Amino acid sequence: MPCYIVYTFIIVFVLQIVHASWWYLGMTSSYQTLLEELQEVPVRKRCANLQFLAPKQQKLCDQEEKLIDVIHEGANVGIEECQFQFKDRRWNCSTFNTTNVFGQVLSTKSRETAYIYAISSAGVMYSVTRACARGQLDQCGCDTKTRQLVTDGNFEWGGCSDNIRYGQRFSKEFVDSNEMKRNDFGLMNVWNNGAGRKTIKDNMEFICKCHGVSGSCSVKICWRKMKAFRKIGSALKARFDGASIVRVDRNRLKLKRLNKNQKRPTKRDLVYLEESPDFCNFNPASGSLGTRGRKCNKTSIAVDGCSLMCCGRGYYTLVKEERDDCDCKFYWCCRVVCKKCTRTVEMHYCN
Ligand SMILES: *[C@@H]1O[C@H](CO)[C@@H](O)[C@H](O)[C@H]1NC(C)=O
Ligand SMILES: *[C@@H]1O[C@H](CO)[C@@H](O)[C@H](O)[C@H]1NC(C)=O
Repeated sequence: MPCYIVYTFIIVFVLQIVHASWWYLGMTSSYQTLLEELQEVPVRKRCANLQFLAPKQQKLCDQEEKLIDVIHEGANVGIEECQFQFKDRRWNCSTFNTTNVFGQVLSTKSRETAYIYAISSAGVMYSVTRACARGQLDQCGCDTKTRQLVTDGNFEWGGCSDNIRYGQRFSKEFVDSNEMKRNDFGLMNVWNNGAGRKTIKDNMEFICKCHGVSGSCSVKICWRKMKAFRKIGSALKARFDGASIVRVDRNRLKLKRLNKNQKRPTKRDLVYLEESPDFCNFNPASGSLGTRGRKCNKTSIAVDGCSLMCCGRGYYTLVKEERDDCDCKFYWCCRVVCKKCTRTVEMHYCN
């Protein structure tokens, strides 16, 4: 057999193994199937049967019965948030129903990859923290440390503060354990995983409730809670747009700025090692599906606009009729009668 065939085979094979990932737990349809397949397996041995988890991840996941669900939810909110945030971009965070969830885009050390790592690491931290507060896990509960913080006397700590410390530690152990921390890609991924978790920490809310006679606020009870995950997704999207390109200092195994004029990335920033492809054309090697057939906005000059989305190839327009309720009248009592109106809407799609 010619040498290059063997070589190609090895590369393809290795890529597939590298990409088999815990994210697969986040795909709802496959998760249902997995649970059915695992029905016969003893409860705390289920994750040990999931080949797409690293050995350490299998152990962590099998610590408690509920964890597999909690990790599923974390991976799932990460995937859905990514797709929401990128729905109007050329790269729209498509997933595939394989253990290689995000496809070949992960073989690029680009900002897209950075976002995927950050949002999914945040997803696991978020769902573990929430499960703690809801009393769904044995190993954690509400945060008790917050209550020891000094208040200014205007309020008292109470309620259930989110235990982000536990969630953060679990996510770090679980998510980072898959990375080879001694190579450049591993360093990048671990950094971005951490940036995802930091973003949750930076987005805590302070919630208070008043107690007292007839609306007086003689006693004010407050606690700390994570903001909605949408806020985390948006904050990380802003970090995506401002992400820093870095290089690896091989002697010290650290990420460094490319040059001194660049601002030094903080632990909150996303970092990447390679510029992204333009995602205009179909290119399986870089995980680009191309933008042919994508919906675009004729009047926008931003990335969702037809000129940028379609990469200058132009677009076609389809006219569709939509039927809506209109002229609704309320009849006493209790009936609403509407007419049906049709209106035509123009939709634009990339050539
Ligand atoms: C995804 O794959 C799983 C397992 O191979 C299968 O059971 C499921 O139906 C698939 N889902 C979709 C949406 O294709
Ligand atoms: C994402 O892009 C792909 C190809 O570019 C397209 O097939 C898919 O429908 C898009 N998804 C969404 C939610 O727009």
